Amino acid sequence: MPRRAPHDTPPIDQVLQGDCIAELRRLPDACVDAVFADPPYNLQLKGALHRPDHSLVDAVDDDWDQFRDFAAYDSFTRQWLAECRRVLKKDGTIWVIGAYHNVFRLGTALQDLNFWVLNDVIWRKANPMPNFRGRRFTNAHETLIWAARGKESKHRFNYQAMKALNDDVQMRSDWFIPLCTGQERLRDEAGAKLHPTQKPEALLHRVILSCTAIGDTVLDPFSGTGTTAAVARRLGRHFIGIEQDAAYAAAARARIAAIEPLPEEAAATVPTKREQPRLPFGSLVERGIVPPGATLTDKLRRWRATVAADGSITCGRARGSIHGVGAAVQEAPSCNGWVFWHVEQAGRLRVLDEFRQDMLRGH
Ligand SMILES: C[S@@+](CC[C@H](N)C(=O)[O-])C[C@H]1O[C@@H](n2cnc3c(N)ncnc32)[C@H](O)[C@@H]1O
Repeated sequence: MPRRAPHDTPPIDQVLQGDCIAELRRLPDACVDAVFADPPYNLQLKGALHRPDHSLVDAVDDDWDQFRDFAAYDSFTRQWLAECRRVLKKDGTIWVIGAYHNVFRLGTALQDLNFWVLNDVIWRKANPMPNFRGRRFTNAHETLIWAARGKESKHRFNYQAMKALNDDVQMRSDWFIPLCTGQERLRDEAGAKLHPTQKPEALLHRVILSCTAIGDTVLDPFSGTGTTAAVARRLGRHFIGIEQDAAYAAAARARIAAIEPLPEEAAATVPTKREQPRLPFGSLVERGIVPPGATLTDKLRRWRATVAADGSITCGRARGSIHGVGAAVQEAPSCNGWVFWHVEQAGRLRVLDEFRQDMLRGH
């Protein structure tokens, strides 16, 4: 087949139909911010090496899941992963999802290609398929590997957004999310599942929200029913999908077209530390918002510190920044002085961060 021309500009917000390695080769370098890849599981390895256990995912016996042997699977994996790395921006990250059949091979290939593994996340299925043979444990999870393009990447992690999504508790690496069922599941005219491994939108919601910003581009080289693209569009991100099967690609396009992007304020996440404008405590002192001589105290009024004209504070024998003195009095390794220290105003304690936020908003 003749090679198709490379794209001069990234074909954003499209599902490209074709083999992912060939299609990836047509994309410019460093044109996507994140990749989500849900590759073939390799369930149907021929020969005695492997007996597929269909309790894992819905029965996958499609042609796209057939590989001659592990070597063929590994060679394919390395080719598409190398292309993903090329098209990923320097600080971008990749997610790959797999099960015990393939995830270890994916992990080895990622590390061999100099991706830098950040986490492995367990997607614990709320409603797994039962184990029919009764010869193994019920397989109730899949593994996602999250990796930066390289060790030096300054990857994005929307820590506060993940915390907010989890009732203000740090998001852990074990995610309890149901399989894709009900209205969300695409079906053909006969009512049968259109695709055997359609992923739940909730899983992609968390993935995309954790590592991208509004306007970023997410690439999915095994787009299937277009779950990644659909969620990306809803969250105000761009997408590039690749799918070799014409029927899946068509279903994905129809699904994506029906998605209404959220208004920007609904799709936005809490700014990361890097996005927050830097404002030294001294600026509040200079402007008399917290004047020299003012007293700071902690929430429980255990310590009292005096503010100096240069923005340092003194508490007993400790003198230094709001962070350093906060850490010293608590004998803690570190302290965020903005949320530790308070100012008493009209009988009410106001945390320093409130003054900072007011000032950033120009109040
Ligand atoms: C595990 S499924 C992905 C399902 C998808 N995450 C979803 O939610 O619908 C893998 C998909 O990759 C496609 N595929 C397999 N090999 C491919 C290749 N070489 N190039 C492009 N697509 C491929 C298959 O047709 C299948 O739809």
